[in-house]
Amino acid sequence: MNTPIIDFVREYRKREGTRFHMPGHKGHVFFGWEPFDITEIPGADVLHQGRGIIWESEENAAVLFGTGQTFYTTEGSSHCIKAMLAALCMERGVWDRKGEDEGRERKGWENEGRRPWLLAARNVHRSMVDACALLDLDVEFLWGESSESLCSHVISAEQLEEALDRHGERPLAVYVTSPDYLGQMADIPALSRICHREGIPLVVDNAHGAYLHFLEERCHPMDLGAAMCCDSAHKTLPALTGAAYLHVHPEHGQRFLPYARQAMLLFGSTSPSYLTLQSLDYCNAYLAADYEKRLEETLERVEEWKRMFGEAGGRVLPSEPLKIVLDTAGLGYQGDEIGAELREYDIECEYEDQAFVVLMVTPENTGRDWARLHEWGKNTQMLRQSREGIPRAMPERLRSKRVMSIRQAAFAKSEMIPVSRAAGRVCAVQTVSCPPAVPIAICGEEITQAMVGEFKKFGIKEVSVVL
Ligand SMILES: Cc1ncc(COP(=O)(O)O)c(C=O)c1O
Repeated sequence: MNTPIIDFVREYRKREGTRFHMPGHKGHVFFGWEPFDITEIPGADVLHQGRGIIWESEENAAVLFGTGQTFYTTEGSSHCIKAMLAALCMERGVWDRKGEDEGRERKGWENEGRRPWLLAARNVHRSMVDACALLDLDVEFLWGESSESLCSHVISAEQLEEALDRHGERPLAVYVTSPDYLGQMADIPALSRICHREGIPLVVDNAHGAYLHFLEERCHPMDLGAAMCCDSAHKTLPALTGAAYLHVHPEHGQRFLPYARQAMLLFGSTSPSYLTLQSLDYCNAYLAADYEKRLEETLERVEEWKRMFGEAGGRVLPSEPLKIVLDTAGLGYQGDEIGAELREYDIECEYEDQAFVVLMVTPENTGRDWARLHEWGKNTQMLRQSREGIPRAMPERLRSKRVMSIRQAAFAKSEMIPVSRAAGRVCAVQTVSCPPAVPIAICGEEITQAMVGEFKKFGIKEVSVVL
C-alpha cells in the first residue's frame, strides 16, 4: 500500500530547501524528528479540505477498514467524538432557527416535545460530555446491569428496547463505548439491529478497538452495523499519540459524510501534526502487510499467558483479546498494590484502580516484555499469599439527580472546592482521573456522598461546582 504523506515529506526533506514557514524549528534537529515536521505547504494538502496526499491516505485507510469514509485527526478520539455528535445535530437540523422565526420550537423537534438528546451507556469518556456541553445536548444514561466498575457498562439489547419504549421519543443517536477501559464489549450486532429497525444511528466510541477489523472474525463496529465510530489509532496500532480515525459506515454515507467533514473542521486545529499524519499513513502500509498474522500470533501469546496465570490461581476478567484485565480485588489486593509490584519488574500497566489492573498488549510487545510478565506472574504476592476478596462497590450507587442541563452547568459561574465539602452541590465542569476519564459526576448533577467517596478513591482532591 502506498504512503503518499510519508513520501511527500521525505522528498521535501531531501531537497533541503529553506523553510520560511512554520514550524519555528525550520527543520533543524533539536530532538531528532524536526526535519519531518512540516505544515500545510503547497503539495502537502489541507486536512479535511483538500483532495491531495492526506485525502489519498484517508482513502487507503477507508479501503483497509472497509468504511464509506475514514477521516484522520491528530487530536485523538476526543476530537472525533465531538465531531460525531456535531454531525448528528447538523444532519437532524436541531439548531435550524427557521422554525423559531415562525414562532415554533426548533425545527425537527417541535413535535417531539423535548430537547435533542442521546441515549448512552453511562461509562462515557469525558469528551462525550464535553461535546454535549458544547452542543447543548441532553443525555439519558443507561447503567450496565452487571457492572462492577464505572469504567464498564455493557448494555443489553433488552435494556435498549426497554429504554426506547419508556421514552417514546427518538433520541438523536444511541451511543456506546465498546470496548471499554476494562475490555468489555457491547453486543453491537444486537444493538445495531434495534437501531436500524427504529431508524436511529448507533454511534460507537471504539477508541480502544481499531484492531478489531483485523481479527479473523472481524468485529469492528463498522463491520457490525454502527453508523459512525472513532478509533484512537495510537491506543492499539503503532501510531503517534493523537492519531485517530473517524469512520462513517457506507450505508450512512449520504446522511453523515458532508456533516462529518464540517464537524471535524469545526473542532479541529488548523495546524495538524504532520508527524502524526505520517504515522497514520504508515499504519496503512503496516496493516496491509503482515499485521493480521502478527495479531494472531500475539493473541495466542495473550491467551497462553492468561491460561497459565489462571491455572496458577490468578484471576483474569474475560475481555477483548488485546487486553489483560487482572481482577486483583478477587484475590484481596488493590489494583494499585499490584501496579506497584509490576513496576518492580519494570512493567508499567495502562490502568490500575482499587479492583483492577489493565495491561494493553500489541504485536509490538517483545519477547523481553513477555518474559518479564511471566516472571512477575510466577512471583506475584497475589498467588503466594491469597487474602479475602475485596467487595466491589457497584457503580449504580453513583446515580444522582440532574439539577440543570449539561451545558448550563459546564458554562455556569463556578468555584473549585475541596471534595469533602462537595456533597449537595451541583457539578460544574467535570473532574475526572485520567485514565479512565469516565466522569464520576456529570456536569449539572447533584454531587452525592457516594460520589465524594469515589472522588477520594481516585485521588481527586478538588471539584468544580456551580456557584
Ligand atoms: C473510551 C475512551 N474514549 C475516548 C478516549 C479519548 O481518546 P483520545 O485520547 O484518543 O482522545 C479515551 C482515552 O483514553 C478512551 O479511553
